[in-house]
Amino acid sequence: MKILLIGSGGREHAIAWKINQSPKLEKLFIAPGNAGTKSIGTNVEIADTDIEALKNFALAREIDLTIVGPEAPLALGIVDVFVEAGLPIFGPTASAAKLESSKSFAKDVMEKWDIPTASHKVFQDSEDANSYLESLNSFPTVLKADGLAAGKGVYICQHKSEAVTALQDIMVSKVFGDAGTTLVIEEFLEGWELSVFAFTDGESISDLVAACDYKRIGEGDTGPNTGGMGAFSPPRIWDQNLKDQIRDLVIRPIVEAMRTDHEPFVGTIFAGMMITAEGPKVVEFNCRLGDPETQVILPLLRNDILEIFESCVNGRLKSVKVEWRKDASVAVVLASGGYPSAYTTGYPIDGLALGGDSVNIFHAGTKLDGEGRIVTNGGRVLAVNALAQDINQAADVVYENIRAITFNDMYYRTDVSK
Ligand code: AMP
Ligand code: GLY
Repeated sequence: MKILLIGSGGREHAIAWKINQSPKLEKLFIAPGNAGTKSIGTNVEIADTDIEALKNFALAREIDLTIVGPEAPLALGIVDVFVEAGLPIFGPTASAAKLESSKSFAKDVMEKWDIPTASHKVFQDSEDANSYLESLNSFPTVLKADGLAAGKGVYICQHKSEAVTALQDIMVSKVFGDAGTTLVIEEFLEGWELSVFAFTDGESISDLVAACDYKRIGEGDTGPNTGGMGAFSPPRIWDQNLKDQIRDLVIRPIVEAMRTDHEPFVGTIFAGMMITAEGPKVVEFNCRLGDPETQVILPLLRNDILEIFESCVNGRLKSVKVEWRKDASVAVVLASGGYPSAYTTGYPIDGLALGGDSVNIFHAGTKLDGEGRIVTNGGRVLAVNALAQDINQAADVVYENIRAITFNDMYYRTDVSK
């Protein structure tokens, strides 16, 4: 098969690495890719949101299947455009991707189908939202801009004054642009946070897999939110009972809700879950694989990933038994110092040799410079992953391998999985 993979992060390098193991693969293109994907396929210089150019490329190269990594092209309707052009593509349509791109849409679906989530209110008017905040007595409370904001549109407010400032930022100053036209104010959930994934063809769902993500920049979960600084799988609380609960209370109903009331959701359904004292509750839905969760879960996947993608697109997922290894998997992100604020790029990276068969170095913000050296090219630069029998052993192998890697201003958390 001729495959086009869209995106340029660590997630996409991990997907490319897994696709490359498929006997079905004939040729792999990645748009735009990074230095890591360049070593396994052909990078194509087209931005992941330039849907017209991506479509023309797929038509010209007779691509058999396109796989979309990030949320932005999905929300922009890449799947609708490709399907219209007769090009097979793995991912949800723009209206199904609203599960991620509109928090209020996701909340409405959950409410109607009784899917457990934080109680919430939606506001279009900043004065109404303000009066509601004035009447609130219980804090913390959570304010969310109602659109894609790269994981940054969420404010957890400990006091009323903080909430009022957040409201100003989102709705009045519009720091997230149009995503701040609608505001969701919701109950603060306390518990263990998990990212849960399943592949779906719109009707059947695969076996579930879960990971824990480290969202904050600083040790001990301090400082601002990032795209994700590390992950591990399985979570320590993950067992058959929790998996069954999340499948029956969340994943099956959301797939059924989309198929019945809206449009079938085809692709990867990603439930951000909080395991509270009252049971599992949904924090958010995403319509794609997570980053850096993908860098820990795909090394655990036994199947040929192209067979899974193909069967989802053809509505035949039922015929594939998706299986996850029982091993433990850890990934730690190496970032440019300064991230998630300003940082410098273009520094050469050394020490990228792998220390063993069960170790992977997935590239994110990397590129080749004019002299063919691998240099830093983004906030999150690399993720080092290792598999082992348990989480602690896997983490030891990861941190040992990190010691060999150097670039100027390199930063990482030392407490991932600890
Ligand atoms: P989101 O963009 O919805 O994933 O939110 C980003 C992060 O904020 C989540 O991963 C949680 O850690 C946190 N968060 C969001 N909503 C809530 C909530 N209702 N209660 C507690 N934490 C939350
Ligand atoms: N790591 C969280 C996400 O991909 O949204």
